[in-house]
Amino acid sequence: MNVYLDYASTTPIHPEVITYMSEIMKDHYGNPSSIHRLGREARTVIEKARRTMAQILNCSIGEIFFTSSATEAHNTLLKRSVQDLGIERIIYLPLEHHCGLHSIQEIVKTSTVQPVPLKVGSDGMFSMQELEVMLKENKKTLVSIMHVNNEIGNLYPIEVIGKLCKQAGAVFHADTVQSIGKMPLDFASLDVDLAAGSAHKFYGPKGIGFMYIHEDTQINPMIYGGAQERNMRAGTENIIGIAGMAKALEVADRDQKKRAEIIAARQAYFEEKVLQEITGTWINGSDSRASHITSVSFPASPHVDMLMFNLDIAGIAASSASACSSGIEADSHVLQAIQHPDNRKSIRFSYSHLTTLEELDYTISILKKHTQAT
Ligand SMILES: Cc1ncc(COP(=O)(O)O)c(C=O)c1O
Repeated sequence: MNVYLDYASTTPIHPEVITYMSEIMKDHYGNPSSIHRLGREARTVIEKARRTMAQILNCSIGEIFFTSSATEAHNTLLKRSVQDLGIERIIYLPLEHHCGLHSIQEIVKTSTVQPVPLKVGSDGMFSMQELEVMLKENKKTLVSIMHVNNEIGNLYPIEVIGKLCKQAGAVFHADTVQSIGKMPLDFASLDVDLAAGSAHKFYGPKGIGFMYIHEDTQINPMIYGGAQERNMRAGTENIIGIAGMAKALEVADRDQKKRAEIIAARQAYFEEKVLQEITGTWINGSDSRASHITSVSFPASPHVDMLMFNLDIAGIAASSASACSSGIEADSHVLQAIQHPDNRKSIRFSYSHLTTLEELDYTISILKKHTQAT
């Protein structure tokens, strides 16, 4: 049996998205910057996609800019906001995705900006009061806190954080990659200045993403060249990807409630079974977690060291939360930040509305087989 439990890493393209992209691929090969009919038609496809996405995310079309990925989007948003908005300090969550974290590290290396990582507990959460106190300091601040953590699934209250930032005059950047398409997001009511999404996380194609830049936040581009994306992101547009991303978001929005119910039920089922049937396990993260991610911590044993390998042999695709550097396996920066014990092993299982109970039962049986001492 083949079981895919790595939906937080990427998702298969939805059949409706494939159909739509195939049409665009066949019929719309013009360069959107050309003024002839074919060019104008391609431009129309892009602007229709932008309109669809802006409607779903409740923002204006002028606030959406297409990029090659969320990684590019976050690099642009973080680097350019620091350069262009007079940022003196970045307060950030140490559990940010590497595209945010490494951008911040690079900014700090090449500027006088003060980095302030938030202190997190073993559940990965930070004190809102502490953030509030920090924000009282008279320093132009950028706050970078993700909406949903991609490894342990923690859900951070961006609506509350946004309000605090707004009151304090701080710029708020939120990585919304793991929440867009999974839960409703309403940018008009959120005090988020900068955000980004990636199509392949919500059943769209890979290699296409977007940034949201609030209309009152003016930053310059990171990539220079042509006047595409209203001078914010040069380079001939990935029209097929853009069309596919908008279609995927449209489908995700249409089916959101139905999908969310199934996913929440799958998570409850899987977590209960894991905790009951596999001795010594716990679920990493806080009580407030997104329902498509479960990070399971397994007690130390020689069997557990081989678990990822054995899951793979059994046809189960999950994700190891450790990185191998110089031949030594170490916990990821997220697990290190929550002080996950080195001698235990964590594996991330991430599900979708496509995940069946049978797949989860099979996974539990394989986990049991390979964790029990003989
Ligand atoms: C939270 C988060 N941010 C950013 C990214 C990067 O997205 P992309 O694959 O579009 O570069 C990912 C992808 O894993 C993610 O999970």
